[in-house]
Amino acid sequence: MKENSFFQNQSDLTSAKTKIYKNYIEGYLPKLLLTFGTCLIVDLFCGAGKNGEEDGSPLILLDRLKSILSLQQLQEKKNIKIHIVLNDQDKENIENLKRELEKLNYDKAVIKVHIKNKKYEELLPELIKTHTNSNLPKFFFLDSFTYSNVKMEHLKEIMSLSLTEVLLFIPIFHSYRFANKEFDENHKTRIFIEEFTASGIKDYGNVNNYLFSVRKKLLEEIKLKYVRPVLIDGGATKNALILLTKHQKGMLLMNKVAFSLTKDGSVIKANEQDQVSLFKADEESKFSLNFKELLIDYLRNNTKTNKEIVDFTIQKCFLPKHCRKEIKELFDLKKINVFDINNNEITDSNKWNIAENITKNILIKWKKNEKK
Ligand SMILES: C[S@@+](CC[C@H](N)C(=O)[O-])C[C@H]1O[C@@H](n2cnc3c(N)ncnc32)[C@H](O)[C@@H]1O
Repeated sequence: MKENSFFQNQSDLTSAKTKIYKNYIEGYLPKLLLTFGTCLIVDLFCGAGKNGEEDGSPLILLDRLKSILSLQQLQEKKNIKIHIVLNDQDKENIENLKRELEKLNYDKAVIKVHIKNKKYEELLPELIKTHTNSNLPKFFFLDSFTYSNVKMEHLKEIMSLSLTEVLLFIPIFHSYRFANKEFDENHKTRIFIEEFTASGIKDYGNVNNYLFSVRKKLLEEIKLKYVRPVLIDGGATKNALILLTKHQKGMLLMNKVAFSLTKDGSVIKANEQDQVSLFKADEESKFSLNFKELLIDYLRNNTKTNKEIVDFTIQKCFLPKHCRKEIKELFDLKKINVFDINNNEITDSNKWNIAENITKNILIKWKKNEKK
């Protein structure tokens, strides 16, 4: 979509993207504010405030904050302070944004909005410098139209700050279409593919494989444990949102958001109400099958605790309930045994505590000589 038409009409792809953003911050901010009483939210490509009739990311954020701050537990918390940095290089967008913000009624003593009209490339180093030693929890939303603005180096710098998460938008299909093409060295598509994929220039077979190669590269380069991509499939165009976080709870939340909006947790069908797939059925179920195989390989290696298995599941983009189901199946197939820490066998699966909150330690052992 051309930039000028973006703010007049909101496409299905954009509304799927804003839905993920909205659902994520709705889950993320209350917990953060209850724990820290403060946070910084940085929307570096914030746009004009509105996309046609629909709210853009700055207005969504302020709207969600209004309802979050009205939560009983937060009402009881004193001195809450939320800093929001909104930036866009386009002057008209910023003027429009200011007009939209003036219409809103929010507590300016609690929510401090800092509006910037800079190029992202200039503002980012300033922000990094200001927050190098800050203990504020920080959330960066990087929602650029193109894939060439945000560099791996920028992400490394942002993620080197303490208590930081990034939600990165990538119009993934633009580069995927040419992923096996030998461009000149200086071509921006080639630069992106080489910088952002683990496997580089090659034929990926499908866009999901390509996206998972981007994920692998982010995990390796930034040395993160948790990177959660969600593919937004608009048929001819496909975009991706990718959460980068150092925190299991952040990744778990994005896994939940993805599974609440999609059938299989990997692909959101942007223009279909009923989530009927544009992928072939086998493409879609590969995501779940892949998890089953990964889990079996993981278990066969060594004895694992329930805590380790739940963390592994979350890292692989799934939920504790998926892991519980797989473990039960393996148990029924007599592939594994489950013990408490005193080595007493536990056959009742309700006592395994494979869940979000682990309250007791359980050991899961692959039976010797059992094949996959
Ligand atoms: C996809 S739009 C953002 C949409 C917004 N998040 C929303 O929900 O309405 C991308 C924005 O990035 C801005 N932009 C593009 N390149 C930029 C740069 N280098 N620095 C700052 N802003 C930039 C554009 O003006 C545009 O408003």
